[in-house]
Amino acid sequence: MLNSVFCMLFFLAMACISSSTALKVGFYQRNCPSAEAIVRNVVNNAVSRNPGLGAGLIRMHFHDCFVRGCDASILLDSTPGKPSEKDNVANNPSMRGYEVIDEAKKQLEARCPQTVSCADIIAFAARDSASKLGGINYAVQSGRRDGRVSLKDDPDQNLPAPFFNLSQIEQSFKRKGLSVEEMVILSGAHSIGVSHCSSFTKRLYTFNATYPQDPSLDPRFATMLKSKCPSNAPSNVDRTVVQDFITPNRLDNKYYQNVVNRRDLLTSDQSLMASPSTMSMVKNFNRQGGVWANKFGKAMVHMGSIEVLTGAQGEIRKSCRVINH
Ligand code: HEM
Ligand SMILES: *[C@@H]1O[C@H](CO)[C@@H](O)[C@H](O)[C@H]1NC(C)=O
Ligand SMILES: *[C@@H]1O[C@H](CO)[C@@H](O)[C@H](O)[C@H]1NC(C)=O
Repeated sequence: MLNSVFCMLFFLAMACISSSTALKVGFYQRNCPSAEAIVRNVVNNAVSRNPGLGAGLIRMHFHDCFVRGCDASILLDSTPGKPSEKDNVANNPSMRGYEVIDEAKKQLEARCPQTVSCADIIAFAARDSASKLGGINYAVQSGRRDGRVSLKDDPDQNLPAPFFNLSQIEQSFKRKGLSVEEMVILSGAHSIGVSHCSSFTKRLYTFNATYPQDPSLDPRFATMLKSKCPSNAPSNVDRTVVQDFITPNRLDNKYYQNVVNRRDLLTSDQSLMASPSTMSMVKNFNRQGGVWANKFGKAMVHMGSIEVLTGAQGEIRKSCRVINH
């Protein structure tokens, strides 16, 4: 008898814990029913003016989630003597879209003060960008809380670098609980946006002792890239090149066609051809855009659940750029 009462209490307690800690679709339905519509409206306006901002917002969600979980640590400004993630080379100067988040937060604070987390705004904004640039629609879970810590060096150990080989990018996704297939699927985001020359010029000019130019690059594509990223460019100039020359502003499966044809920018992109299993995924996604788009939405949702703060953890920031006082 005592035993079964104990069991019931135990299961009730477990149910309470799990209900307060899980993300769910429509988390703001009661406290701020217009939350997702407000973000969508701000994102649609911004991305209509500049599609690059949509690329930035999708990348921002990735860079947020891989560093201390999806807790908006990427949005905290550096303070004197305390540089934040924003100042890491992975984000500065290339990350785009901070002002879009600020505008969404401003409108949300006017409608529902201190209710919607900055971490959820990033997740909504990434989803709305995928919808606008790729017609990829998926339900986004919410209920994330904002973190209070952002350290400049954190991205170094947590984000994959453009020169990583296959085992290195696999490792970096595995450490965040994402599968090899999810890694291949999410890399498809390189079907939009730009890369700075500095992220890939090693492949063009100083590959290794035998080959100045990466032999895994299509030679004609390499020649074209060299004209966009000349070796004699002044060192303070870092130009940008679109990542997908077929449909630069369309989030579609053309990325995989580029990888198959060896017309990609990053070593990490071409590394997907380095094993039979990832190569066959690349070829399948190249053939089946609908399958990829569907899996992209699912993989984004999974990425959006990495090490999240929920319930009473963290806080809801008043400004996405500073922790509450
Ligand atoms: C597989 C490992 C990955 C590596 C090594 C990597 C690296 C990079 C690099 C170096 C750039 C160019 C930055 C610049 O020079 O301006 C870039 C751009 C971008 N990445 Fe990734 N990335 C990876 C995975 C992802 C994932 C998982 C996503 C999102 C789901 C993503 C989304 C993007 C987007 C959208 C851009 C264009 C950004 C813009 O135009 O502002 N990447 N990535
Ligand atoms: C990938 O790079 C790491 C670190 O440089 C190296 O130890 C490993 O052997 C490389 N793996 C492959 C498959 O090239
Ligand atoms: C240079 O790269 C090629 C192609 O990846 C490789 O086969 C070769 O072993 C490398 N050479 C040196 C000296 O590292």
